[in-house]
Amino acid sequence: MAASPEQFRGQARLPLCASPLRYDLRLRPDLGVCAFSGSAAVDVAVSAPTHFLVLNAADLFVDGSSVRFQDLAPSEVVQFEEDEILVIGFDRDLPIGEGVLKMDFTGTLNDEMRGFYRSKYEYKGESRNMAVTQFEAADARRCFPCWDEPAFKAKFKLTLEVPSELVALSNMPVIKETVHGPLKTVYYEESPLMSTYLVAVVVGLFDYIESSTLHGTKVRVYTQVGKSNQGKFALDVAVKSLDLYKDYFATPYPLPKLDMVAIPDFAAGAMENYGLVTYRETALLYDELLSSASNKQQVAITVAHELAHQWFGNLVTMEWWTHLWLNEGFASWVSYLAVEALFPEWNNWTQFLDETTSGLRLDALAESHPIEVEINHACEIDAIFDSISYDKGASVIRMLQSYLGAERFQKALASYIKKYAYSNAKTEDLWVVLEEETGEPVKDLMITWTKQQGYPVIYAKLDGHDLLLEQAQFLSDGSSGPGLWIVPITSCCSSYNAQKKFLLQGKTDKVHIDFTASQSAEGENAQNCWIKLNIDQTGFYRVKYDDELAAGLEKAIKTKKLSLMDKIGIVDDSYALSVARKQTLTSLLRLLNAYRYESDFTVLSHVTSVCLGIDKISVDATPELCRYIKQLLINLLLQAAKTLGWDPKDGESHLDVMLRSLLLIALVKLGHDETINEGVRRFHIFLKDRKTNLLPPDTRKAAYLAVMQTVSTSSRAGYDALMKIYRETAEAQEKSRILGSLSSCVDKDIVLEALNFMLTDEVRNQDAFYALGGISLEGREVAWAWLKENWDYVSKTWPSSSLISDFIKSTVSQFTTEEKAAEVSEFFAGRIKPSFERALKQSLERVRISARWIESIRGEPNLAQTVHELLQHEV
Ligand code: BES
Ligand code: ZN
Repeated sequence: MAASPEQFRGQARLPLCASPLRYDLRLRPDLGVCAFSGSAAVDVAVSAPTHFLVLNAADLFVDGSSVRFQDLAPSEVVQFEEDEILVIGFDRDLPIGEGVLKMDFTGTLNDEMRGFYRSKYEYKGESRNMAVTQFEAADARRCFPCWDEPAFKAKFKLTLEVPSELVALSNMPVIKETVHGPLKTVYYEESPLMSTYLVAVVVGLFDYIESSTLHGTKVRVYTQVGKSNQGKFALDVAVKSLDLYKDYFATPYPLPKLDMVAIPDFAAGAMENYGLVTYRETALLYDELLSSASNKQQVAITVAHELAHQWFGNLVTMEWWTHLWLNEGFASWVSYLAVEALFPEWNNWTQFLDETTSGLRLDALAESHPIEVEINHACEIDAIFDSISYDKGASVIRMLQSYLGAERFQKALASYIKKYAYSNAKTEDLWVVLEEETGEPVKDLMITWTKQQGYPVIYAKLDGHDLLLEQAQFLSDGSSGPGLWIVPITSCCSSYNAQKKFLLQGKTDKVHIDFTASQSAEGENAQNCWIKLNIDQTGFYRVKYDDELAAGLEKAIKTKKLSLMDKIGIVDDSYALSVARKQTLTSLLRLLNAYRYESDFTVLSHVTSVCLGIDKISVDATPELCRYIKQLLINLLLQAAKTLGWDPKDGESHLDVMLRSLLLIALVKLGHDETINEGVRRFHIFLKDRKTNLLPPDTRKAAYLAVMQTVSTSSRAGYDALMKIYRETAEAQEKSRILGSLSSCVDKDIVLEALNFMLTDEVRNQDAFYALGGISLEGREVAWAWLKENWDYVSKTWPSSSLISDFIKSTVSQFTTEEKAAEVSEFFAGRIKPSFERALKQSLERVRISARWIESIRGEPNLAQTVHELLQHEV
């Protein structure tokens, strides 16, 4: 075979004949000109004869004349930008064994929030640059040439040359610092074996606060100068989580220190770099006076999530990105475990159903993907950091844990962590450990959930004393896919005391129902009997009950017989079945009526999101009726909202604070005049006196949205006032609240102005998605026209998969006609990139699903009558 560097092009993975053992890496960022230079000396093990060393590099200039392997100068050094590889060719086979590869390189501190990039902050009124890394998924190669795949674990020894007045952080503690005038050289301890995507560097000005775990690990939170107080809450959560995980995984935190840093420009929410976790400010900082209860929860969950990765992900790492869910699904699931232990009053496992619901929503699309997904090019990786890897991943873990039992599950996880520590694992490796530990058929069960996309809906009907079950793949477009699952079924009849549990292995099965036992348990007659499947929604599936069973459940909701989780499951399944046209909107509205007296945050948060979904579709589906439907939905939420009012009450629960905010926002969005007027009134007082207690952070978003509802081109005072607050505040959470409100205006010109504002340098690129999230139905055409017009700029400025996908999802999914779907497809033909291809297809699918749903709503014979009937009922 003619040996040529060309042979390495177009390959999904690097060749295995040489692998790195240890990187000695020196980096010199120049913050003034936004560039960096570096040199690497890598201990390489050559395990098979080869003329070539093939590694990754992208957007880097590698100085060919500096490259040596031992004493050997290469005969050629070629970089293939498209494949992001660097091929170093020699004129003879390299000797088998170890050798040192040396090379020098330079690059730009880019503006893209990936690789080695610069972030901006203000210090004493002046704008400054900091240098930050973000390497996951495959961007370490933008900072130094490396074997940039998770299975090439190596030790890292870093040295940084930076301005002497700055803080320079990396994964490991500093061992030595030498200052020479304006520059200093900082030497760090060598790391244990780790993957390249977890290497990190942060250089800038920071304050910090510090604490330590029971085990003696030093934990610090770094913030902007003067803001270290805002790091206290996260520090406390971090210290407690580390102690908790140490026990749960039966393995201590493996590094000598843990730093957590708030970065002003940050693409994701946070990143679990080994020993140096980076966060966007909103996900780390908490201020008693400036943050809301939901900010607080977000911080706790994010910290708990990233710290879970220190075991699940960093110590034991997925072998390849196909198994990304082992990282993300597990970290998400484990984070709920930690937060539940730290804040039991948050009812965190019930809130976990938010994750399950969003997993179920995405996975009901034909354009979804299996949890384990084939990856053939680095550019495909970012797109799978989605609700399937996270939410479905976390949910199927909860399902498995509930099937196996919490204790057995924990023991098995601890042995898995021990067995694969400092190494890599595939999904199947986990199943093997779980089977060994429990003797259950874990692999057969779980591959139906991880290798196959989608999930089943279980049709349930009563036949005498038998409950007949049949599974079919659930798809939101109303069709049935070919999938079959092994489904852990749980059921109970009229009481949670007698639960049944079995595996549905084929398409159909039946369960014997013992009515007498459950009746005597509850002392009820046959008419009040109810049967609930999927108790507490531990299974990742939906249930469609026949009319009789559904009526029983509706009654059970009204008479408060069901758990919070079951109430959530019923309303969410019902909504999804309605979108898929398996059930009428009419019957969904009747069911919703059963939730009228609900007062729990966790349940109402799902009821509210169903209400807002119905409100949106009804505007297009039944313009003549939508006013009445709106009123119906308002009536549903109003009682609970009135009880809570606008003002916080002494000693009220965290969840009631969350509920107040949720309901006020929903009522404003539904156009409830009284709430809007009150919001506007309070806003004007707040505008004059920012310290007023009439508008604490928890209700502020509702007031901002209320203000925007009253803004029009002719009366734009509210918009200008919000802009003033935006410009005056330095708080990221406050800025995000405002950005999320501006484009919710019904006036198209103002929506356009808000979108254009997003492109100015007053809005950080990381924050664009807040503004996109709030676009009003009235503004959707403007937003789409705006996206088309700015597409070249937008796609260049937000290359990261999740950010560019946000632009598409939030503009496209709002449409509800086939014609619009066709128009969107046409625009993107020829513009598609792997980073957003799936998001686009999913958005288009959603448009078509809405179009069909609308058509079916228009054909519902009893809708108008039912709406009026239910409304009358209210008065
Ligand atoms: N590993 C991810 C960060 C990440 C996401 C890197 C996408 C590269 C691409 C991190 O652990 C994470 O999952 N962060 C979440 C926060 C969390 C609370 C779910 C995030 O950024 O939203
Ligand atoms: Zn994660």
